[in-house]
Amino acid sequence: MRVDAKMQATGEVFMPLASAINLLLGSGGKRLRPALALLASKLYTAANNEKVVSLAAAVEMLHSATLVHDDVIDGSLLRRGQATLNASWSQGATILAGDFVFARAAFFAAETDNIRVMKIFSQTLMTIVEGELRQLYALRNWSQPKDAYYQRIYGKTAALFAAATEAGAVLGDAPEGEVELLRDYGYNVGMAFQIMDDILDFVGDPNKVGKPVGGDLRQGTVTLPVFYYLQTHPEALQIMQASGNGHTNGNPLGQLIADIAQSSAIDATRQEAVQFVETAKACLASWPASVHRQALLDLADYVVVRSL
Ligand code: IPE
Ligand code: IPE
Ligand code: MG
Ligand code: MG
Repeated sequence: MRVDAKMQATGEVFMPLASAINLLLGSGGKRLRPALALLASKLYTAANNEKVVSLAAAVEMLHSATLVHDDVIDGSLLRRGQATLNASWSQGATILAGDFVFARAAFFAAETDNIRVMKIFSQTLMTIVEGELRQLYALRNWSQPKDAYYQRIYGKTAALFAAATEAGAVLGDAPEGEVELLRDYGYNVGMAFQIMDDILDFVGDPNKVGKPVGGDLRQGTVTLPVFYYLQTHPEALQIMQASGNGHTNGNPLGQLIADIAQSSAIDATRQEAVQFVETAKACLASWPASVHRQALLDLADYVVVRSL
C-alpha cells in the first residue's frame, strides 16, 4: 500500500509526512491483524471483496498509528529494524503524524460502509488509549495485582485482535453466535500475543525482534514474567523498589532482568500464553475443516513460537 496512491481521496499529502508514512508502511511488520480480519471474513465469503480489504487496511493503519505513539511514549528509537520517526522528528511532530495515520485508519474503516464496523473501530481505539494510559498509571507500582496486567494487555493489544476478527465476521454476514466466537478467538490470540511480546522483551534477540529489548522492567512496566518471578523470589521486590528511575549508572535492574530471563518464570509465562492459544483454537471447533480455518489455527500456534 503506497501512500501516494491511497491518499488521492484526501488530496495531496505534505511531502515530509507522505515520506514518513511510506517509510512506516514500507518497514513491513508481520501484518497479523489484517490477516486475521481477512481470514475471519473468508470463513464466509471466498472472495476478497473491497470492503474487507478496507477493513484489513483500517486495522493495520490503526495498529501502525498506535506504534508511532507508543514509540514516543516508550522513548523507543528502533522499530522493525529501522529508526523510529521520533528518532529524527520532534515529539510534537511525531504525535501529529500518528494522529494523521489514526485518521487515515478511520477513513479506511468508513470505506467499509458498515456502521457496526465503524463502531467496533472507534470503540477499539478508545480501549487502546485506555490500555496505554492504564500502563502509564501503573508504572513502577511494583506490588500491583496481576489482574491489572490482564486488563491493560487486553486494552493495548488484545482488543484490536478481537476487533479484527469480529469485524471480519461482521462483513462476512456471520450469524451472531459465530461473530462472538470469532471475537473470542481474536481476544485469546491477542492476549497470547502480548504475553509473548513481554517474554521477548526479556529473552528476545534484538536483531530479530527489530526493537530494543529489556526496556519494560527498566521503565517500570510490570509484565507477566515479573509476577511469576516475584512468586519464587519475593526479595526481588526490594531491588525494584530501590531501582530509582531505572536509568542510573550501575542500575541493579540490569542484573535482575538477566536473572528473570534465565529463570523458570519465562517458562511459566509461556505456559500461560499456550493456554490462551488453546482457548483460541477451541473457539473454532464448530467450523468445518477449510484452508481458512486451518490458517487461523496455525496463526494461533505461531504466536507462541515466534521469535520476532
Ligand atoms: C507490536 O506489534 C506491538 C504489540 C502489540 C506488542 P507487532 O509485533 O504485531 O508489530 P509488527 O507490526 O509486526 O511490527
Ligand atoms: C504496545 O505494547 C502496544 C501498543 C502498540 C498499543 P509494547 O510497548 O509492549 O509494544 P512494543 O514492545 O513497543 O512493540
Ligand atoms: Mg513499546
Ligand atoms: Mg513490548
